[in-house]
Amino acid sequence: MVTANKLAPSILNADLASLKDQLAAIEQGGADWVHLDVMDGHFVPNLSFGPILVEAARKHTKLALDCHLMISNPEKYVAEFAKAGADSITVHQEATVHLDSLVRVVKALKTRDGRDMRVGVSLNPATPIESLEHVLPELDLVLIMSVNPGFGGQKFIPYALDKARKLRAKADAMGKALDIEMDGGIGPKNAAEVIAAGVNVIVSGTAIFGSGDIPGTCRKMKELMG
Ligand code: DX5
Ligand code: ZN
Repeated sequence: MVTANKLAPSILNADLASLKDQLAAIEQGGADWVHLDVMDGHFVPNLSFGPILVEAARKHTKLALDCHLMISNPEKYVAEFAKAGADSITVHQEATVHLDSLVRVVKALKTRDGRDMRVGVSLNPATPIESLEHVLPELDLVLIMSVNPGFGGQKFIPYALDKARKLRAKADAMGKALDIEMDGGIGPKNAAEVIAAGVNVIVSGTAIFGSGDIPGTCRKMKELMG
C-alpha cells in the first residue's frame, strides 16, 4: 500500500523561546507534521513539556500535531493532549500493561475540531514489532524508535531499519495503509535509506533545528524522501 512520505520535524531541540518563528520556518520548508516529544523524566530520563506546549503550538500552525508520549501511565493524560490540540497521539508499548484498552481510549477521542483522533504506538529499539501483532489492525501509525528515547542528537541504531522492513511487509500483507514513522538520528545523510526500508514518516530534530537553515534543510529532506 502506498502512503505519502511525510516529514515531521521534532521541536524538542528547537528554539522554544521563538516557537512561532520556528514553526513558520518548518512550514516554509514544506514540513508535513510537527512532532512533539513529551517526556516525563520517569519513562525516559529527560523531562520536556506537556499539553501546554501543544496548546501553544496549536495557536501558531495548521500542521498536524503529532504527539509522541514518552511518559508512564499515558492513560492518565491522553485526553489532555486531545483537548490541547493534538491530531495524533502515540503511546509507548512499554509504558502500559493494558495496550489494547489504551489504544481504544485514544481512538475514541476527538481532535479539537471534532475529527477522530489518530492513534499510534511507539516501540523502543529492543522491543520487537511482533508485540503489536494483536493491536495492529486498530492502529493508524507505528513509531519505530531509532534511538533509545530521551534525547535528541543521538546516533542512529541501524537495526531499526530491519524492524521497518518487517512491519511494512506485514502491513502490506494485511492491505493496511499504515503510517510507519521513525524517530531519532535521522537527517539528510540517511533519510533516503530510511524511506527505502518502508518508513513513510520521518522525525528529525537536531539535523533540522541545528542546521542554521531550517527551511532549506526541510526542503532537502523532502527531496531526499521522494
Ligand atoms: C528521542 C526523541 C528524539 C527527537 C529527534 O526521545 O524522540 O528522537 O525526536 O531526535 P534527533 O535530534 O536525533 O532527530
Ligand atoms: Zn519522538
